[in-house]
Amino acid sequence: MTTEHHPVLVVDFGAQYAQLIARRVREAHVYSEIVPRSMPVADMLARDPAAIIFSGGPASVHADGAPSIDPMIYDAGVPIFGLCYGAQLIARDLGGEVAKTGRGEYGRTTFTVSAPGTLLREQPLEQSVWMSHFDTITTAPEGFVVFGSTPDTPAAAFGDPTRRIYGVQYHPEVKHTDHGQDMLRAFLHDVAECPPTWTNVSIIEQAVEEIRAQVGTDRVICGLSGGVDSAVAAALVHKAIGDQLTCVFVDTGLLRRNEAEQVEDTFRRQFHVDLVHVKAGDRFLSALDDVVDPERKRKIIGELFIRVFEEAAREIEGSPRFLVQGTLYPDIVESGGGDNANIKSHHNVGGLPDDMDFELVEPLRHLFKDEVRAVGEELGLPGEIVWRQPFPGPGLAVRIIGTITPERVEILQAADAVVVEEIKRAGLYREIWQSFAVLPAVKSVGVMGDERTYAYPIVLRAVTSDDAMTADWARLPYDLLERISSRIINEVPGVNRVAYDITSKPPGTIEWE
Ligand code: XMP
Repeated sequence: MTTEHHPVLVVDFGAQYAQLIARRVREAHVYSEIVPRSMPVADMLARDPAAIIFSGGPASVHADGAPSIDPMIYDAGVPIFGLCYGAQLIARDLGGEVAKTGRGEYGRTTFTVSAPGTLLREQPLEQSVWMSHFDTITTAPEGFVVFGSTPDTPAAAFGDPTRRIYGVQYHPEVKHTDHGQDMLRAFLHDVAECPPTWTNVSIIEQAVEEIRAQVGTDRVICGLSGGVDSAVAAALVHKAIGDQLTCVFVDTGLLRRNEAEQVEDTFRRQFHVDLVHVKAGDRFLSALDDVVDPERKRKIIGELFIRVFEEAAREIEGSPRFLVQGTLYPDIVESGGGDNANIKSHHNVGGLPDDMDFELVEPLRHLFKDEVRAVGEELGLPGEIVWRQPFPGPGLAVRIIGTITPERVEILQAADAVVVEEIKRAGLYREIWQSFAVLPAVKSVGVMGDERTYAYPIVLRAVTSDDAMTADWARLPYDLLERISSRIINEVPGVNRVAYDITSKPPGTIEWE
């Protein structure tokens, strides 16, 4: 079985490609991991890799200090597949020719197959592929077969079936390349002979085994937030060790409508998890009394959250030794050569500090987000949890501008529930990154019936994004906007106007505070 004991290693030559390649390999049901190009080849080989893939990268192989790799890798007998920059590296290292022709190719190009070989077997002889390169592979290394070309690249795909070393100039990992995934599958399954055993079921089996081995008979605690990651982590740990797990759900009173009930329903009633539901809404609201400054709100909520969690943890019988955390693979992967390590600043409000006195259990640390969702579905978690949009740790507090009162929380929860319901009904909930309501601290005049009103507006925020680092406002259909607006005004007392936020990030942020 291909597991972390026998992985496909994706060597990261920079830029954004390595994670995408690793995900595509896993979509072919083969376990893959990203390694920095600075890792010594001996260390890569010590992992006993099933295959090695060189990623693309932004450099030119002719540039001074261009990223390279110790050529001993080519003699190790491990199947190698170079993509884009990785293909140019193979061509250069093994005696082919990479020329500065002055004609790069960017975007869609037609690739013509001349000799299919294993990689292109049973594929159309003309295909649309995605290119992004400047230098051009003009001649494949000696002993290599050229499988096809594009108008500007004579050796666009080449390989030596005996040594099992292959290169392709275009990007098979991107969706715009028509048969890219077929090509990756052919390399993994047919060339490298990796069995397609990385499935949701095998991921779960392996996680269960690891969790049992790590925690033995000790007690384990897990904080549930209502979000996807902590829910899947908890469900996995519960499957592994059952009653040894206690989940603590801190209800800050700042959650979306019905979220607390859903956590109860799912974990206590459906999964029979030992769940401590701390109803701390009053404590949070009184700590936030009259607080207006966004950073102070975050600080107060963050500190109180930890205090409440610790109090609950102390009451658990048998003093838990382990704490479950929903860390994902992209949070821990080190990309590039160490010189461009993938450091992502992320908010940790509503999370737990690193220095708590527990050993960590991180059952999702090998997984990408899409795998976490698939595992969650396999474990039987409801779609509402598995497909939930991201939600900030401080909850609705950063969406209520100005003072937070029980009445204002209720207004926002009611408006937000309409937004979520209508976005779901329009079939847009999964493709939109986040969609929610914001309650500003101003009032405006309106007229309802014959009455003059003076009430709050609701700002609707809906954005598309891949990672929350940048975002664009979602182009929601007008009729959907109209439905949301009229329902909020008709159904939510205290609101007489709805506005749509059309600010991208940057310069705006996704949240209003
Ligand atoms: P911004 O508003 O900075 O948000 O564009 C980026 C992403 O982070 C979420 N967010 C938070 N998450 N604690 C969190 O756990 C926070 O304090 C926090 N603030 C923002 C936000 O919802 C978006 O997905």
